Amino acid sequence: MKAIEIRNKYLKFFERHGHKIIPSSSLIPENDPSVLFTTAGMQPLIPYLLGGKHPEGTRLTDYQKCVRTVDIEDVGDNRHLTFFEMLGNWSLGDYFKEESIQMSYDFLTKELNIPVEKISVTCFAGDEDAPRDEVSAKCWEKAGIPKERIYFFGKENNWWIAGNEGPCGPDTEMFYDTGKPACGPNCDPSCDCGKYVEIWNNVFMEYFKHPDGTYSKLKQRNVDTGLGLERMTMLLQGKETPYEIELFLPVMDRLKELAKVDNINSRRIVAEHLRSSMMIICDGGRPSNIERGYILRRLIRRMTRHLRKLEINLDEIGNLVDIYVETLKEMYPELVTNKNTIKEVLIEEKNKFVKTLENGEREFNKAVEKAKKEGKTKIDGQTVFNLYETYGFPQEITVELAKEQGMEVELEQFDKLFKEHQEKSRLGSEQKFKGGLAEQNEKTIAYHTATHLLHKALKLVLGDHVAQKGSNITTERLRFDFSHPQKVTPEELKKVEDIVNEQIQRDLPVVCEEMSLEEAKKSGAIGLFENKYGEKVKVYTIGDFSKEICGGPHVEHTAQLGKFKIKKEEASSSGVRRIKAVLE
Ligand code: ALA
Repeated sequence: MKAIEIRNKYLKFFERHGHKIIPSSSLIPENDPSVLFTTAGMQPLIPYLLGGKHPEGTRLTDYQKCVRTVDIEDVGDNRHLTFFEMLGNWSLGDYFKEESIQMSYDFLTKELNIPVEKISVTCFAGDEDAPRDEVSAKCWEKAGIPKERIYFFGKENNWWIAGNEGPCGPDTEMFYDTGKPACGPNCDPSCDCGKYVEIWNNVFMEYFKHPDGTYSKLKQRNVDTGLGLERMTMLLQGKETPYEIELFLPVMDRLKELAKVDNINSRRIVAEHLRSSMMIICDGGRPSNIERGYILRRLIRRMTRHLRKLEINLDEIGNLVDIYVETLKEMYPELVTNKNTIKEVLIEEKNKFVKTLENGEREFNKAVEKAKKEGKTKIDGQTVFNLYETYGFPQEITVELAKEQGMEVELEQFDKLFKEHQEKSRLGSEQKFKGGLAEQNEKTIAYHTATHLLHKALKLVLGDHVAQKGSNITTERLRFDFSHPQKVTPEELKKVEDIVNEQIQRDLPVVCEEMSLEEAKKSGAIGLFENKYGEKVKVYTIGDFSKEICGGPHVEHTAQLGKFKIKKEEASSSGVRRIKAVLE
């Protein structure tokens, strides 16, 4: 079965069971600064898991593009992918363990026709925070999994949370037995020898973990599930690695044809990082030196390095993109419209990296010449470090090139210098953070307050249907997405601008209060993402003009903002408009 068939079967199955199919969100989360990329299907649904009403109801299903980068360095082995697709179904305070488990069982055994003998499951063993999940175990038994293939484990295996705080709960996981021999008498689904492969995770989300590590019960009992599509496809096709399924094969084959050096790991790294980079760029990501931009940069650079290792001409990148777009366009039609941008971004970043490499290589050659003249067989650590620090020349490339010249590299000394350097720059950036924060944040804080004024002014001018759909702030501008069915006229924009400037001139005080969510709602505070913040929320009141639930920070009084100017109004998506504005 092909990946797209599995996806379609999944969505249809859950649709038949009363679920609404919702679209995949962007890989780049709007309004959630706590994560760099969307890492699970539940992420865009957090407000609804916490009790917010979802417009499509209480049973949802979708496919979600995800990026997980904790294990970038592991890519190239046979199972880690940085980009993957997660199929999911959700109950928002609707069905719970019994129905969820029965549906999973039916989907695996009747839709995907996996023999029940190949399935093992795990349940939460219980601890001081939550009881042993006998209910799930009973449900599995009732569905048809024999007792001896139902295992119990603690939080380390059977508890799921995205990050350190938020909605969470015990989970039950399904494992596929690959038929490989057990690695020993204690081999079970918690073992990573490769016999058992996790295929699906159903989280029974009824708890909230607070920053202090304590748990409380959520308003409602939810189910959040996730099934990794590439992995499931690989297992159903009887393949050993995801690189052998149809989503990767055309690119993998082409890489093999092009490569002058036979190296399967490098081919996998190139295929994986290229696909991830393409998907990130497609959703608006761009390489940079910080945060998600830096992850993208690392992916592209690692890919470039391995292309070079395979001795593939880097001009082939564009053709490889074409192959991927052809392969994946049915699943991700957005790749077709963004193809040219994807190529441009990849090629520009590749060129930058090549320059870095060329400069570094020149300096490297000089160093080698000098060392040879002096009769040395080793390149000293200081030289390797200088190449790294001054030319951004990666140490592993120095090692590679040195090997080609029959030389060794003094890595111990390099490591020592590198650690010292890291420590210095850590201290430096802490310093910069302390000092620079005031300067840097003065602007973003002001934009933050301006966003509240804009939100309220839009409601006043356009109507109460205006609701925040997204917000993004840089030191240069604010960007605000909101629901509104048509273009905002120039007259309306002028009115909005005037109202905001009037509030700035009135020099209204900005006051922050903490209260419970209930109190906040009663006080008339607005705020779409309110439920994310848990029990106690902060409410920012700007004079008599605006009251909004928000994490802050904000300016103390509005005259600090300067002059507000709308620069652009445009469509963001269907029924959503976007305004870009600046403070002058
Ligand atoms: N959110 C759960 C996971 O990512 C389903 O495994």
